[in-house]
Amino acid sequence: MNLGEILSGVALLQPLAPELAQSTIAAIEFDSRRAVPQSLFFAFPGSKADGRQFAADALARGAVAVVSESPAPPDLGGRQALSRAARNFFHRPDERLSLTGITGTNGKTTTSYLIDSVLRSGGKTTAMIGTIEYHLAGRVLKAVNTTPESLDLLRLFAELENAGGTHVTMEVSSHALALGRVYGLNFHTTIFTNLTRDHLDFHGDMESYFAAKQLLFEGAGGAPPKYAVLNRDDEWARRIKVNSKTEVLWYGLGQEAVLRARHIASGFGGLRFDLQFGKLRFPVESPLIGKINVYNILAACAAGLTYGLAPEVITRGIADLKAVPGRFERVDEGQPFVVVVDYAHTDDALRNVIAVARGLNPKRVITLFGCGGDRDRSKRPLMGQAAAEASDFVVLTSDNPRSEDPLAIMNDALVGIRRVDVPHVVEPDRQAAIRRALKEAREGDIVILAGKGHETYQVLKDKTIDFDDRAVAREVLKGYGYHKTQ
Ligand SMILES: Nc1ncnc2c1ncn2[C@@H]1O[C@H](COP(=O)(O)OP(=O)(O)OP(=O)(O)O)[C@@H](O)[C@H]1O
Ligand SMILES: [Mg+2]
Repeated sequence: MNLGEILSGVALLQPLAPELAQSTIAAIEFDSRRAVPQSLFFAFPGSKADGRQFAADALARGAVAVVSESPAPPDLGGRQALSRAARNFFHRPDERLSLTGITGTNGKTTTSYLIDSVLRSGGKTTAMIGTIEYHLAGRVLKAVNTTPESLDLLRLFAELENAGGTHVTMEVSSHALALGRVYGLNFHTTIFTNLTRDHLDFHGDMESYFAAKQLLFEGAGGAPPKYAVLNRDDEWARRIKVNSKTEVLWYGLGQEAVLRARHIASGFGGLRFDLQFGKLRFPVESPLIGKINVYNILAACAAGLTYGLAPEVITRGIADLKAVPGRFERVDEGQPFVVVVDYAHTDDALRNVIAVARGLNPKRVITLFGCGGDRDRSKRPLMGQAAAEASDFVVLTSDNPRSEDPLAIMNDALVGIRRVDVPHVVEPDRQAAIRRALKEAREGDIVILAGKGHETYQVLKDKTIDFDDRAVAREVLKGYGYHKTQ
């Protein structure tokens, strides 16, 4: 029988959420010690103790929902109940799967691609859940949210189990933590990359943003994680509190880190460094570009170690990841200059990606970018200025104009570009603009096509069209007579 049927005729303060009403109930209890999976727990004030105190215990034992006349304690909202119920419904796949959860402001997507590659190098059948797309035992699914709702998440876990899979690597956004999407899940390995000002519109201030992230390491509603992999070089990561049962692995560049990168070499071909882990020392090579990725690689190596993988398996997995889609992703048709597609779409991100390009000592940096329509107008001149200040040549074009006039958007960005004396062209048609940027490039230059990254569409006023910067750049380069020899 489902919860809605059981509670029919019971006076409720507010109607049951439809997902919750459909939860199957197999037993009813009012003693939390007798609560079992799929039970419905009734909490009420007794003569000696308040049953509400036992609500959490009942839920931990698998109860789907709690009926009480008192308001729910803050951590027992409907979303938590949905997570519990979904977990029971799918027979708790997280208890059999090995879950890795990654949180932090930057580097989650990159780190999850690296870990997934390491696990596959170890012969595991895996799932990866994050911003760009979901991977499930070799299948690629469209990503809805960086972290799906608990019910969808558990459904993915169950599908992975059916496909014979064992390991899940997932980005856990602070939204997801605050909204209870991973409530009650048992994580094997949890990772904290870093914390910087971001998403403060949602969380209010740094402290509450941090508090949301902290939940992952406490094992919100579930068992505490076996391992916490923490960035020793990030001041917020050092403030993370872990359960006494959780083993901490610190990574970083300094001596205090247990996993440490030394002798870092960074160039066009990627990264190389020596990894030191206690007495163990082994060379690591990655095609990923930019020193910041050393942190992501260290975190991924640490995760591999928590699963008992051998250093050579881990390093093969790291080396195998050629690029993260749309993150400094190179388009190579044998041309004598570098073409990079990156999803940078803020002034900060533009400065970062151009700085990474500069670090490779190119002759010139040519930056193509646009600003999205129906979004924060104030960032447009800032993006224009960032691109102009850091580049040698700028191509201003359209991003996703949405309902706005592309020319009006470009005019906003031009205000920023004109603050700097830099050669620039304006071309609203993104395809023509890419052609223009690539025509400008000479031997030794780097061309950055910014803003859309992994996106494969462009959102215009009345329609959405197929558009992939990487595919367009490849075609244009071929049209210019380049072709890949290999
Ligand atoms: N470890 C890191 N520390 C700081 N910045 C990083 C790190 N890794 C990547 N970055 C920068 O942040 C950008 C986003 O990286 P990535 O997509 O891996 O992060 P994310 O945490 O998944 O971000 P989002 O929340 O936007 O999905 C990269 O393009 C890079 O410029
Ligand atoms: Mg991400």
